[in-house]
Amino acid sequence: MSTLKAGVIGYPIHHSKSPIIHGHWIEEYDLTGTYETIEIAPENLKEDIQKLVDQGFHGFNATIPHKENIMALCDEVDETAKAIGAVNTILIKDRKLFGSNTDVFGFIQNIKQEVPHFDFKNKRAVVLGAGGAARAIVYAFKQEDVSEIIITNRTREKAESLIELAPDQVRIIDWELREYALKGSDLLVNTTSLGMEGQLALELDLTQLPTHALVNDIVYTPLMTDLLSDAKAQGNDIVTGIGMLLHQARPAFEKWTGILPDVDDALIKKVLS
Ligand code: ATR
Repeated sequence: MSTLKAGVIGYPIHHSKSPIIHGHWIEEYDLTGTYETIEIAPENLKEDIQKLVDQGFHGFNATIPHKENIMALCDEVDETAKAIGAVNTILIKDRKLFGSNTDVFGFIQNIKQEVPHFDFKNKRAVVLGAGGAARAIVYAFKQEDVSEIIITNRTREKAESLIELAPDQVRIIDWELREYALKGSDLLVNTTSLGMEGQLALELDLTQLPTHALVNDIVYTPLMTDLLSDAKAQGNDIVTGIGMLLHQARPAFEKWTGILPDVDDALIKKVLS
């Protein structure tokens, strides 16, 4: 490959950690190139993307608020992105845009790297929340043959809109009854913003959760959320949220460079500092 030209589009975008991640890999794999943040206002999406094509970009990531709207501008969208209804990675080839979604990969690979013995097959999972991240995670569970997916969300209708992703596996439980969902579960994932710095606390008593269950929080500020500390204190395996962010970046880098990069301790340290 020549010199990598890539970036992340969003609005606002200054907070993005993606330049640190891709910058680390450009260095680690002895490539030359840039990965920059590119602020694009929603009303300029079409024209500004055309500029990236004209400038010879290999591709880019898309984040809030472009993940859904960019789909209509892609020449092709992969199956996963279609199912989730959001594109976060674009490859530009022969001036054409190929859209994909790497969040499913990121979620699964993070857990597989952190807890290699964990097997998703025929397990019962509980998902707190029903936003964009939950969509990717429910789809990931379906792919990994999770047999039961219990979704609990403050707004019940939003949870119901996820049923179509895995109609035979998904069950909805009212948010007020969320603690009942924990009994007999093998995996618990928080996809809500509760517990994040500056947000309300996630109120959840884990007493009913079996100690063999794996607990993952996709919130990573703070890295050790109250949910994870409580789970750890109870003897559960825990997986922090930073890994999903790092692993979802890997297939994007691979599409642009042909190299599927690793998530190593040096990268985790850089992103957290
Ligand atoms: P993302 O794309 O990261 O998933 P999102 O789509 O904004 O983010 O979803 C945020 C999730 O956090 C939603 O499930 C939201 O619940 P609602 O669907 O009822 O809005 C949940 N959430 C946010 N604030 C909450 C609160 N105070 N109590 C309960 N759930 C909350």
